[in-house]
Amino acid sequence: MRRKLAAGNWKMNGTAAALDELAALAEATREARAEVLICPPATLLSRAADRLSASHVTLGGQDCHAATSGAHTGDVSAEMLRDAGASAVILGHSERRADHGETDAEVRAKAEAATAAGLTAVICVGETLEDRENGKTLDVVRSQLDGSLPDGSTGDTVVVAYEPVWAIGTGKVPTVAQIAEVHNDLRNSLIQRFGGETANAIRLLYGGSVKASNADDIFAVAHVDGALVGGASLKAADFAPITAAL
Ligand code: G3P
Repeated sequence: MRRKLAAGNWKMNGTAAALDELAALAEATREARAEVLICPPATLLSRAADRLSASHVTLGGQDCHAATSGAHTGDVSAEMLRDAGASAVILGHSERRADHGETDAEVRAKAEAATAAGLTAVICVGETLEDRENGKTLDVVRSQLDGSLPDGSTGDTVVVAYEPVWAIGTGKVPTVAQIAEVHNDLRNSLIQRFGGETANAIRLLYGGSVKASNADDIFAVAHVDGALVGGASLKAADFAPITAAL
C-alpha cells in the first residue's frame, strides 16, 4: 500500500558537472520498483529537471521558506521549488535545525507552505547521541513529530524521515532493534493523531549512513518504507544498489 521511496539528499554538493552523474543515476535505477527522489542543491534543480524530463526520477528541494514571496534575501519559496521542477522538499533536516536553529513550529509552517504549493514535505526527526544516552530518544522524536507535522497531513503531503543525528555521515548505524523501536513508535504516534487509514499511508524513511552493505537489513525492518540517503546518493554506483534493495 505504501510505495517504497529511495530519496537522495545531495546537501551542499554538486555543480553543473554533477548533472552527468545524475543522468547516470537515473539510468542505473531505471528498473527500480521504488520511487526515486533526488534532492540536489537549489541551483541545480531546473537544469536537473530539464536533464531528467523523460525519466522516472523525481526531484526535490532541501528547504523552503514558509512565506510565498517577499523580503527574504537568500531564501527560496516552495512555489519557486515547484516552478524549478521539484515535487518534494526536505524540511527540518538536523543540519538545518543545528545550523539555522530551526524549530518544530518553523518546520511545520514550511510544511504547510510546501503543501500549499503542491510539494510533498519530507520532514526529518531524530535524536542526538546525548538524547539517546539519556534515554530520551522516543520523547524527542515524538515531540519533533508532533510539532513539525501540519494538521491534516496525509500520505500525499508528507513523508517522515527518522535520522538519528549521531548516524548522519558517521558510518554509525543504529541496530535494527533500535530502528524498529523508533519506526514502530512513529507509526503509533501517527495513528493516534491522524487515524489508522491516513497514518498507514504516510511513508517512514530511515536516514543515517545507509549504504549498499546495510540496506537489506534496514529495509527488512517493519515500518521502514525507504531511505533518505546522503553521501551514498552522490554516485550512481552507490545509490543504485540501495534502490534495488527496496
Ligand atoms: O538526509 C540524509 C542524511 O542526513 C544522511 O546522510 O551521509 O549519513 O547518508 P548520510
